Amino acid sequence: MVNSPPKPTVPESEAKIKALKENILTPRFYTTDFETAAKMDLSAQETELQAMLAEMRADYNRHHFIRDEQFNGSWEHITGEARQAFIDYLERSCVSEFSGFLLFKELSRKLKNRNPLLSEMFNLMARDEARHAGFLNKAMADFGCTMDLGHLTKNRVYTFFPIEWVLYTVYLSEKIGYWRYIIIYRHLEKHPENQFYPLFHYFESWCQDENRHGDIFKALLRSQPQLWKTWQSRLWSRFFLLSVFATHTLTVHERTGFYHSLGLDPTEFDREVIRKTNETSARAFPTVLNTDHPDFFRRLQRCSDLNLQMSEIEQSSQPRWLKVLRKLPLQMKIVGHLLRVYLIKPIDAEALRETVR
Ligand SMILES: [Fe+2]
Ligand SMILES: [Fe+2]
Repeated sequence: MVNSPPKPTVPESEAKIKALKENILTPRFYTTDFETAAKMDLSAQETELQAMLAEMRADYNRHHFIRDEQFNGSWEHITGEARQAFIDYLERSCVSEFSGFLLFKELSRKLKNRNPLLSEMFNLMARDEARHAGFLNKAMADFGCTMDLGHLTKNRVYTFFPIEWVLYTVYLSEKIGYWRYIIIYRHLEKHPENQFYPLFHYFESWCQDENRHGDIFKALLRSQPQLWKTWQSRLWSRFFLLSVFATHTLTVHERTGFYHSLGLDPTEFDREVIRKTNETSARAFPTVLNTDHPDFFRRLQRCSDLNLQMSEIEQSSQPRWLKVLRKLPLQMKIVGHLLRVYLIKPIDAEALRETVR
């Protein structure tokens, strides 16, 4: 594969892949323990999962991801920083959707003869993610920079996550995806003058796909008592919530230009997405974070500032060893802030659930 002659699109996609590899915040590709996944006992959530399967088969968005005449326009007037920020947004979103597609497709394939219900469910979710990634890739083509997804599949490093971690993290990425899409959609409904490209029209139904995927992962998570009944599950929940939220804060503030071009305040957008995702997660996780604590967003913001300082160092022309040395104290500060946020007294979602009942 490495020695095969480059196709005409390869130099550009290789440049993208290099850029992707260099950034720690770039969405990863995952693989998992398929054997354990096949053996999961889903009986506790069987009814819920059958209902979700029926919804997935109904395929409400079958005709949604078709580009209409609005895409025939020219986008050359979007220039400079706004153009670059949007391309960067499209690229990350496309990789993230495609990463979901690959994981779901592989799970579907590996579970085919072992767990037909799960296999079909993953196959249908892969169908949705392929549509999402394809749609974003076509949007990128409008801006002259298609990604070679086949090349990406074969050349990107896959991170192994035990199936339990997959359930926590995919649940969170689906729900945070839902909130990201719907908040942008609702904002643009009120401020149509900021709708600089027709992609955003599609976000309402699009986010319903993510919401459904999130609900499927919620049912999977709740079918496994060890993922919400134990003290370890409480620690893991806090860990994954914080990882996803910190990554979100850092990435949003790395491309503020994109949010400004939509007329959104990046910090407000980031906080709204985190608050909503945290609230939603209380339906699936045993514990969620206390986003109202005065230290919560203050420390996340500090992490983001430190991250931007690190990017500046990285972009400088200093020798490699000096960059590493200068970044080290900043990295340690970030870890310190995250640790302090992790230790903020969390919210007991199980107790909350009891009260609601
Ligand atoms: Fe998606
Ligand atoms: Fe999804």
